[in-house]
Amino acid sequence: MSEKIKVGIIGCGGISHSHMAGYKALPDRVDVAAVCDIDEAKVKAYAERYNVPRWYTDAREMLANETLDAVSVCTWNSAHCPMTVLALEAGVNVLCEKPMAMNQEEAQLMLDTAKRCGKLLQIGFVRRFGNDAEIVKKFIDAGDMGDLYYAKATYLRRNGCPGGWFGDKAYSGGGPLIDLGVHVMDLVRYLGGCPNPISAYGVTFNNLGNDRAAGEKGYVSTSVGKYEHNVEDMASAMIRFDNGLVLSVEASFNLNIKSDTGTIELFGTKSGAKLDPGIQFFTDMNGMFVDITPSGNTALSFNGLFEREIAHYVDCVQNGIPCRAPAEDGVMLMKMIDAIYASAECGHEVVIG
Ligand SMILES: NC(=O)c1ccc[n+]([C@@H]2O[C@H](COP(=O)([O-])OP(=O)(O)OC[C@H]3O[C@@H](n4cnc5c(N)ncnc54)[C@H](O)[C@@H]3O)[C@@H](O)[C@H]2O)c1
Repeated sequence: MSEKIKVGIIGCGGISHSHMAGYKALPDRVDVAAVCDIDEAKVKAYAERYNVPRWYTDAREMLANETLDAVSVCTWNSAHCPMTVLALEAGVNVLCEKPMAMNQEEAQLMLDTAKRCGKLLQIGFVRRFGNDAEIVKKFIDAGDMGDLYYAKATYLRRNGCPGGWFGDKAYSGGGPLIDLGVHVMDLVRYLGGCPNPISAYGVTFNNLGNDRAAGEKGYVSTSVGKYEHNVEDMASAMIRFDNGLVLSVEASFNLNIKSDTGTIELFGTKSGAKLDPGIQFFTDMNGMFVDITPSGNTALSFNGLFEREIAHYVDCVQNGIPCRAPAEDGVMLMKMIDAIYASAECGHEVVIG
């Protein structure tokens, strides 16, 4: 396809600006034709800010009036499934933000709908497009790490619930596990060759509530409204995959920790890697234990991150290239998350079918 594609955005909150920046970076390939948010004042201001010709407060109306090739679904989590299904059934390709859905059942419905309608459904696993992921993947693909058998991933915030709907299970589906854990769980699974999860043991804690400490919150929701705060403060889990890889993951919105941390460690039969966030490799050479630190800045950079994700999506839509973050992987992540929450509830390991 050589002509420009017509794109719409559903949900004009915080993360939608990164999607818009990605589309605006491709002026020869993309026209953002319309935007939609249930908050009228918000969508109007958003359309004006980005010079988008038409705005809507109802996605159904936008899909009926416009001839779109693709949309980004950037709503709160509980609207991911209905908005995605609506768009796919209107014959439009979808990039849906993470987490794919509230649970596996919704995710499966989204995947089935994409298949039935013959449309692309990409999931916003943006960490797959990170400079750090690219470097580690090169080492893994070259065989320099051997077989990966264990991984540790943390995404810990001390006072970092984004607030609003993020803390309300009815809109979010859960707390830091589904919001933050999903990023690092997906990254490890992706780097590990996308194995199938077979079981999970998880615990969740709900001891600290929200807003317990003053100070910088970091990322916050742009939605105003009346919400409950009933999600976990912290989750920890161990997931076993069918290729022998085991992942230990920890994620928190609130935790009595010195500072926010996010580290990923991968242990292979030939070497280990630590993304802290700069990358180090550890191995055994000539009878010596050595630390190999690639030169340059290897820490995850947000500069250009979403632009790479969006450019890939546009490439998939325009040129039919294989999608690097397909819906099948979103379903796998929802299976893992459902199993961890179920395990936390029942107190023992849960088998993933
Ligand atoms: N990839 C990342 O790193 C990343 C970062 C932040 C958020 N996210 C994800 O992006 C999504 C949005 O998060 P946010 O921080 O932008 O939230 P936000 O609260 O800032 O904005 C969400 C917007 O969705 C709108 N909305 C809800 N239902 C709608 C519907 N049916 N139709 C149209 N608009 C609707 C709301 O009115 C609101 O404006 C979430 O799923 C979140 O997990 C991803």
